[in-house]
Amino acid sequence: MRELELEIVALDKRGAGVGRIGRKRYRVDYAYPGDKVLAVPIGRGRARLVKVIEASEARVEPRCEHFSRCGSCRWQGLAYEAQLRFKRRVVEKLFAQEVGITSSPKIWYYRNRMDFTISREAIGMRRYSSFAEVESAEGCLLLSKESDEILRLSRKFFQEKKLEAYDILAKKGFLRYLVVREGKFTGQRLINVVTTEGEFPVEEYAGALGELADSIVWAVNDSLADVSFGEIRAHTGEGYLEERLGGITYRIPAFSFFQTNPYQAERLLACVKSWLGSVDRLLDLYCGVGTFSLALVDLASEVVGIEEDATAIEAAKLNAELNDINNASFIAGKAEATLAKVEGRFDAILVDPPRAGLHPKVIAALNKLSPEVIIYVSCNPYTQAEDIRKLEGYELVKLLAFDMFPHTPHVENIVLLSRR
Ligand SMILES: C[S@@+](CC[C@H](N)C(=O)[O-])C[C@H]1O[C@@H](n2cnc3c(N)ncnc32)[C@H](O)[C@@H]1O
Repeated sequence: MRELELEIVALDKRGAGVGRIGRKRYRVDYAYPGDKVLAVPIGRGRARLVKVIEASEARVEPRCEHFSRCGSCRWQGLAYEAQLRFKRRVVEKLFAQEVGITSSPKIWYYRNRMDFTISREAIGMRRYSSFAEVESAEGCLLLSKESDEILRLSRKFFQEKKLEAYDILAKKGFLRYLVVREGKFTGQRLINVVTTEGEFPVEEYAGALGELADSIVWAVNDSLADVSFGEIRAHTGEGYLEERLGGITYRIPAFSFFQTNPYQAERLLACVKSWLGSVDRLLDLYCGVGTFSLALVDLASEVVGIEEDATAIEAAKLNAELNDINNASFIAGKAEATLAKVEGRFDAILVDPPRAGLHPKVIAALNKLSPEVIIYVSCNPYTQAEDIRKLEGYELVKLLAFDMFPHTPHVENIVLLSRR
């Protein structure tokens, strides 16, 4: 295939470098604005990076040995300051105003969770542009130094026990995912092993890992869906993880969502707290295990949380109890179905939806409930900006971006809206 010489002039939504030849636009992963590169077209407006001919001033030497083979950390070749600048620009463009961005307190070993795929060759991340191949995560700089030892001991244990890795192409085999979760402020570690139907020697595995894991959870996913959770069959230790943010201890069930960069999550919580001020009734939509609800109880006379994961809601209730909080209640259900049934007025509503943003029914309900204040926390400012345009009668009062995921193009954004 013919190689093209491209000057990279921008970044696309997914963080790929964009270059043009005439009116044709090419998106090149691992290429950055300011680069001149050689790339081979691979269809649908994409091109594969072959060589950097002239490097952008923003380029740095990636620290990870797996860079560009592993599908994560696409921006590790960019200086951290440049990553922040590009993320800020994304939000500035979407909201047509100047935006501040809060850098992450840690840019290495900042994640508290990694979902490693298990294959015959390795335990790690799916290779860049490959559905079936796995790049070993030994040496990965995202979770913790201990994760290397966990991967090494796990591979040894699985081999000794002759436990076969799942083959995603043949749709056969046993071991599927190893999910390692850490409480960065509690020092706890929980490991979820996801397999197909069979017998996993969970006690022996816990013995092999020794002090590296406080709890091992074994779960079964026998479906064709390539997901890193399943039906829990057995566990050692407590079977959950605990993390502490801003003085509150959260119990997190094995497969429930929790903020992935806890160092930055503390800053996010502090920011939301300072923006909210005193309110009477607060609704926390998409509340998870009560992360925001419980952090904000001092500011409200009553807090109600809604979340679709019933296990997370059970944990949220328990978390309120464990932290001596008695003005928070939680409802399990989809936001779009539950919101219409919630009684009474709320003077503030916080929403923190998944990447897809708010369901149209949620937007309609927010317009009807019409609280004084809406705080919109989002890991996808594109859907966030769209949703906000559909909210009626609000003005944007404050906006601040947060870098939760260094070395990736993802940016978190919080917006404070006030009723006109
Ligand atoms: C970005 S997380 C935020 C969780 C929580 N606010 C926190 O900070 O830990 C989004 C949450 O929305 C939940 N969720 C996804 N779809 C939902 C829906 N339709 N209704 C209610 N909750 C939903 C997920 O289970 C997840 O806990």
